[in-house]
Amino acid sequence: MDALRIRGTGKPLKGTVRISGAKNAALPILCATLLSDGESLLRNVPKLRDMETTSALLRFLGRDVHFDAPEIRVRAGSQVRPEAPYELVKQMRASVLVLGPLVARFGRAKVSLPGGCAIGARPIDQHLKGLEAMGASIRLERGYVIAEGPGNGGRLRGAEISFDLPTVTGTENLMMAAALAKGRTTLVNCAREPEVEELARILNKMGAEVNGAGTDVMHIVGADRGTLAPFDHAIIPDRIEAGTYMVAAAMIQGGDVLLEGAEISHLEALSSKMRAAGVDISSEGQSVRVRRSGPLRATNITTAPHPGFPTDMQAQFLALMAIAHGESVISETIFENRFMHVPELQRMGASVVVRGNTAVVQGVKKLYGASVMATDLRASASLVIAGLSADDTEIRRVYHLDRGYECIEEKLRGLGGNVERVRGAEA
Ligand code: EPU
Repeated sequence: MDALRIRGTGKPLKGTVRISGAKNAALPILCATLLSDGESLLRNVPKLRDMETTSALLRFLGRDVHFDAPEIRVRAGSQVRPEAPYELVKQMRASVLVLGPLVARFGRAKVSLPGGCAIGARPIDQHLKGLEAMGASIRLERGYVIAEGPGNGGRLRGAEISFDLPTVTGTENLMMAAALAKGRTTLVNCAREPEVEELARILNKMGAEVNGAGTDVMHIVGADRGTLAPFDHAIIPDRIEAGTYMVAAAMIQGGDVLLEGAEISHLEALSSKMRAAGVDISSEGQSVRVRRSGPLRATNITTAPHPGFPTDMQAQFLALMAIAHGESVISETIFENRFMHVPELQRMGASVVVRGNTAVVQGVKKLYGASVMATDLRASASLVIAGLSADDTEIRRVYHLDRGYECIEEKLRGLGGNVERVRGAEA
């Protein structure tokens, strides 16, 4: 198993880093290709393990997929097998995003339940409740969700659905189902993430009628043809990758990094907290510039659905607060078990106490290197960030990072970081 070795040089990161396309936008959009025939082309796709897993899943379902980063072409094959097996779903929970499109397009789907995950239980009850409201019959059998359109595989009908809480993939699943349902669907208490807006853009390009994306109420009129048109589209930049480099740039005083292609309007909650912490964030044309010239101030955050502070940036921000002056309080409201990075950061000298969903961080002068490992993608990113300011750190189980960060070691090296990949390190 690969590891990353980071030798903190004490030198700040400087230079330009290109931000890749958004993983969490590409995933639902690739699933939306199931709604169409013909060939779709998705550009600006990051070279990530999750994209390989999605390609494998679409192939299993009967699509022809050609992935040559940064492009993926998906073409309808001659056969369809509307089934997402456990082997693929367990590698990537987002595989559940095929459920809505499969039932809407083919009248049936058999999709493995994803099971628990390192950051929390992550149920899919809201996805299922919505499909039922659209007339699907749902049963659970041997770890699989089996869904059928009304009257034994018929067309879904538009409905008014109110989510109990905003869910990103839940909203996306029902948007895709509604895009081919008969009549009008209203989704209330929707997720408002930029990735949801991006999916709406695609569905509109494909011939559905989606209004209100980016607000908490969406209206969707399904296309009458039984299938949507294929598309050609370049995906938005990855705001969480951008945010991760923003925090990395701020770790050492003197940091000055230009994030090429980042979209500042997707990064408002993070930028405002970084400014409060003493970091200068500005927009320069199609890029975002991050500079830190003074000390870091302790700053509290509470994660919330977009446009609040993203849970996917909580671990990285906590690593930054580990070396800020004073005490910061970090509250996690989205996932119940998302402080797995804390014990590892403690091994690097961070002073953090976790009580329930709150972590209280006392900034220390310096972190030191250790051998650490992480259990999820963003927790791993926080250890990389911490490693930049420590002397010698080895991060094991890098496969988590490879799910969501394209060429992370090359990108950090390009900014002056001393980061290398150790192939076949101990697990
Ligand atoms: N929830 C339910 N029932 C549901 C669905 C969700 O109770 O049916 C709960 C979840 O347990 C959680 C909350 O609702 O407490 C929000 O979860 P959400 O459904 O929004 O999460 P998700 O759609 O599974 C996406 C991202 C995650 C990101 C979360 C929150 C994708 C593919 N994944 O997950 O990204 O953390 O939204 O913003 O878009 C990552 O990239 O590292 C990652 C984990």
